[in-house]
Amino acid sequence: MSAHGPASDPPTSTVLSGDGAAAIHPPARESVSGPSPEGAATPPARRVWFQTFGCQMNVYDTGKMRAQLAADGYVETTDPDEADLVLFNTCSIREKAVDKMDGALGPFRKDKRRGRDVVLGIAGCVAQQEGQALLDKYPEVDMVFGPDGVPHVRRLVARAAQGHRVLDTDLLDLDTYPFVSDLDPADQGVGAFVTIQKGCDNRCTFCIVPTTRGDEASRPSDQILDEVRGLTARGVREITLIGQNVNSYGLKVAGERTFAQLLYAVADIQGVERIRYTTSHPRDMGDDVIQAYRDLPQLTSHLHLPVQSGSNHVLRRMKRFYTRERYLAVVEALRDARPDLALTTDIIVGFPGETDEDFAETMSLMEAAGFVASFSFKYSPRPGTPALKLIDRGDEVPAAVASARLTAWQTAQRTRSAAWARSYEGSVVDILVEGPSRHDDGVICGRTSSHLMVNVPGSLDLVGRTIPVRVTRGFTHSARGERVVG
Ligand code: SAH
Ligand code: SF4
Ligand code: F3S
Repeated sequence: MSAHGPASDPPTSTVLSGDGAAAIHPPARESVSGPSPEGAATPPARRVWFQTFGCQMNVYDTGKMRAQLAADGYVETTDPDEADLVLFNTCSIREKAVDKMDGALGPFRKDKRRGRDVVLGIAGCVAQQEGQALLDKYPEVDMVFGPDGVPHVRRLVARAAQGHRVLDTDLLDLDTYPFVSDLDPADQGVGAFVTIQKGCDNRCTFCIVPTTRGDEASRPSDQILDEVRGLTARGVREITLIGQNVNSYGLKVAGERTFAQLLYAVADIQGVERIRYTTSHPRDMGDDVIQAYRDLPQLTSHLHLPVQSGSNHVLRRMKRFYTRERYLAVVEALRDARPDLALTTDIIVGFPGETDEDFAETMSLMEAAGFVASFSFKYSPRPGTPALKLIDRGDEVPAAVASARLTAWQTAQRTRSAAWARSYEGSVVDILVEGPSRHDDGVICGRTSSHLMVNVPGSLDLVGRTIPVRVTRGFTHSARGERVVG
């Protein structure tokens, strides 16, 4: 796996594969039914089908639900038509993400109206945001629960299976938040995601995440390190630490490691060849993390550092608490520590009040910061977020203007991304081989430390190895290469 961060709308102009997936379908696997007491008859297998939208946090939560429901005899199926339980793990980051859920739900609601016996549940961020309103809107839906309902999904499902309509949008106590291991023995990937945090304490004015995920809580670092040890023991080489604002990891907990200390501790674990992390907030990018780029060769030469806008006027209104100048100073310090750092970002265009001049500042930042790829989105008003006040004031950017800005950004980004990939042509780079190429037989793919995907003729026994390759051709989102032997 190599997906990073958020997303629901397909972004363009990116080399970060996996992001922006409209829906991430977890691979089906034959889960083992839960333990049954000695001598007791095994209950007939019930089938669960998941559809996961949104970011890696949701992928993590779906994994937790999969594991817990397996203990109640639920076997995951790839065929939604044969499922006894259908769970949508939803995303509400932008309006489009919610529309997608609505569309996906339609056929199941129809089936239920026709008498199909299936428990229908909506989990995740839309569930948390809408709560009872979803049960009111969709009479066919049996259960609605937010991300904090995931740890007790078994109880919720059991109640729904008994015919109750279930609603759970309570937020859990942060001090006792039950982080659980997402080690999945069936997962044989070269890379793995490790959750280090939940929620977010920032209040960026456009963003729904603090409402849907609650305040930030850090997972105990000893637990994280144990998990990393478990992963490397089964062959994982690349660890991606995930959270909404990883740079503030541990700060609220007395005696906990800081994010920088966590990076050093992960790098110390035998078998960890590469460390990535996402997402970082520019305001919280400290000197200690920048120093880690000097000290830790395991830390990859790619950083995703969402800027959102290049205009100080817009950044102020977004309550991001940094300026364009501060962002560029952080980037300069990072490049000083790691000269070959490849920088990617997130951009929102059409934020309320964004003028042509503001947008020109954003466009000029692409060059100034040297973004090699980006996720770019049109601002989408979210329920209950502070930016709605700006719309009430009449600051809304017309949809056509926002669309034109998005196209301008993405066109320029594609050109830059392609130039970056082409700049590798002729050079020899190390790639960590991840698996077969999706398109060609006899071709394997892997990433450089800078996150460029390179496709190379080769056999699958190279998976998990770091090999030198010569890049022969760069494209917009990937490159082609050949093995360098000897
Ligand atoms: N915690 C991460 C981002 C989480 S959301 C961070 O702070 O960087 C992922 C991305 O979605 C954001 O970086 C932003 O670019 C985009 N996004 C969030 N809310 C949005 C909205 N209301 N409209 C459009 N894009 C949005
Ligand atoms: Fe949302 Fe801002 Fe928190 Fe990121 S840092 S999740 S954009 S509130
Ligand atoms: Fe993630 Fe979407 Fe929720 S991006 S945190 S699933 S709103």
